[in-house]
Amino acid sequence: MKRIKVALTRRTNSSYEIIIGRDIIDRAGMIFAKKAFARRMIVIADSNVSARYGGSLVNLLNELSVPAELVEFPAGEESKTMETALRIAADLVERRADRTTGLVALGGGVTGDLAGFVASIYMRSVPLVQIPTTLIAQVDSSVGGKTGVDFAGGKNLLGVFHQPKMVIVDLACLDTLPDAEFKNGLAEVVKYGVIDDAELFSDLEQESDEVAARSPEVMLNVIERCLTIKKKIVEIDEYDVGLRRILNYGHTIGHAIEAASDYRISHGTAVATGMAAEARISEKKGYLAAGDRERIEGLLDRLGLEWRFPAEIDVRDVVGKVGVDKKRQGETIPFVLVKRIGVPFINGSVDEGMIAETIEEMKA
Ligand SMILES: NC(=O)c1ccc[n+]([C@@H]2O[C@H](COP(=O)([O-])OP(=O)(O)OC[C@H]3O[C@@H](n4cnc5c(N)ncnc54)[C@H](O)[C@@H]3O)[C@@H](O)[C@H]2O)c1
Ligand SMILES: [Zn+2]
Repeated sequence: MKRIKVALTRRTNSSYEIIIGRDIIDRAGMIFAKKAFARRMIVIADSNVSARYGGSLVNLLNELSVPAELVEFPAGEESKTMETALRIAADLVERRADRTTGLVALGGGVTGDLAGFVASIYMRSVPLVQIPTTLIAQVDSSVGGKTGVDFAGGKNLLGVFHQPKMVIVDLACLDTLPDAEFKNGLAEVVKYGVIDDAELFSDLEQESDEVAARSPEVMLNVIERCLTIKKKIVEIDEYDVGLRRILNYGHTIGHAIEAASDYRISHGTAVATGMAAEARISEKKGYLAAGDRERIEGLLDRLGLEWRFPAEIDVRDVVGKVGVDKKRQGETIPFVLVKRIGVPFINGSVDEGMIAETIEEMKA
């Protein structure tokens, strides 16, 4: 079991620990109980996770003398809405939850964002503990305090920053994760290598078979390194006004692909395609060597992540959707480009012609 501290300095008392390991829930539970964040905990989980892990977590907490109950909502991104948040809040009122009650987000990024959002507004905020169970949540969404729901056709349009009191990452949860969900997380893992850590990237190249086969030792090391990168970026830029934007590598074009496919294309595939496209744009603009771009595409291949542009998606539609993002941000499209593996930078001068040409070349 390892412990990583996220040291946030803007507000006092906002630092927290990430506890990471395999089959650590009992030991982590004891630390959790000792910290006494709240007198009572309500565990929020979606229908898949609740059935698998909800009951045993509630039992464990009760054994540790932390009164706990389970609240469930239907699994899926469709549940990440204000309606579900209000339904959960109504449930909390009914259960007479007060400010001494804490919430546990047990699940993937949907649960973390949704339960985190409810925790941020219920009685002007209650303590939150994140127990991520998907790879995306374990390497990314459980750390950093972004919470929110989708609204009016836009992802995460309503939300706030609400940092957790503690994050417990138990790799044993990944054993039951479907392959497609695991791959979604792997795309983010590759992203961390490209934006921050050339050594992580080359280790992923060396150990791609073990990673794809979810080797416990290799994955423990990989997840720990990803969390260390996320922690470092969040510590520097808690409120996403600067450095944190590099986490968007692959996501400017990736989000446009997801939207253009009406979300039929998974986040991992869209981000893998976005990373390849943004690497190609970096190369075209003379920043990235062809060899490095080939390594990025090669690693995606080895991990079984599809990055070629899907033939059924309209290129103009994708370019248009990148432009929609642009209008939201102001004049230029803030692209995360790469100089070398491990060295990203923000560039606002990518024109639509170059985006279209790049995607065209990447057609499957
Ligand atoms: N807050 C942030 O910083 C941040 C960062 C990245 C993504 N996100 C958000 O996260 C969401 C995506 O997260 P996600 O991919 O984890 O989605 P998710 O929470 O919907 O989980 C994916 C699926 O896996 C199931 N599942 C979860 N854990 C499981 C397990 N251990 N075994 C079997 N099945 C399991 C879930 O029930 C669900 O069906 C998006 O809404 C995205 O906006 C937020
Ligand atoms: Zn992502």
